[in-house]
Amino acid sequence: MDADSPHPFRRLPSFSSHPASDARHLRACLGSFATGVTVVTALSGDGRPVGLTVNSFNSLSLEPALVLWSLGARSRSLDTFLAARRFAVNVLSAGQLGLARRFSRSGIDRFAGVASHTGIDGVPLIEGALAWFECETRTHHRHGDHVLFIGEVLRCARVPGQGLVFQQGEFRSTCAAHDPPE
Ligand SMILES: Cc1cc2nc3c(=O)[nH]c(=O)nc-3n(C[C@H](O)[C@H](O)[C@H](O)COP(=O)(O)O)c2cc1C
Repeated sequence: MDADSPHPFRRLPSFSSHPASDARHLRACLGSFATGVTVVTALSGDGRPVGLTVNSFNSLSLEPALVLWSLGARSRSLDTFLAARRFAVNVLSAGQLGLARRFSRSGIDRFAGVASHTGIDGVPLIEGALAWFECETRTHHRHGDHVLFIGEVLRCARVPGQGLVFQQGEFRSTCAAHDPPE
């Protein structure tokens, strides 16, 4: 504790705090928050599967069962997700790093060679995922440069295994955390 501090807190080590208008710094700070990695899928009006890698997925409510994720307002998939009544969230396992990369790449058929099952209304469920959430879109609202989707989970499933993790722009896999030694 600092001798001259009236508070029982240690002073933070020197660090540089910037306003959020510093976009690079904001991204780096947000990147400290480790997330899982998902591929969100849907079916377009003409029956084409669409999907992209998403780490903005999160749980919102248990009763009712609601989940959320956000999609860049400039995404080529935006019109499909706005029109689709259903979407699926495929939680990637540690062995699906290749899929995480593939579903964030442009100019390719992202589904080519990807084994999938057919979910409700034909929405693709990716084989080998750690968990699947089949959802009905409840609301979508634009906030800043993203559109926030909220969906009600109709069905979900899981298998045991390690998950894929994204932090500071790098992929990792889950492993047990430890307290530092005394
Ligand atoms: C780990 C990771 C997480 C991502 N999370 C999101 C996300 O939450 N929302 C989003 O719109 N794009 C996200 N992206 C980018 C998309 O996967 C994709 O590259 C982008 O949407 C461009 O493709 P599109 O125009 O077909 O949508 C993420 C990419 C990576 C690699």
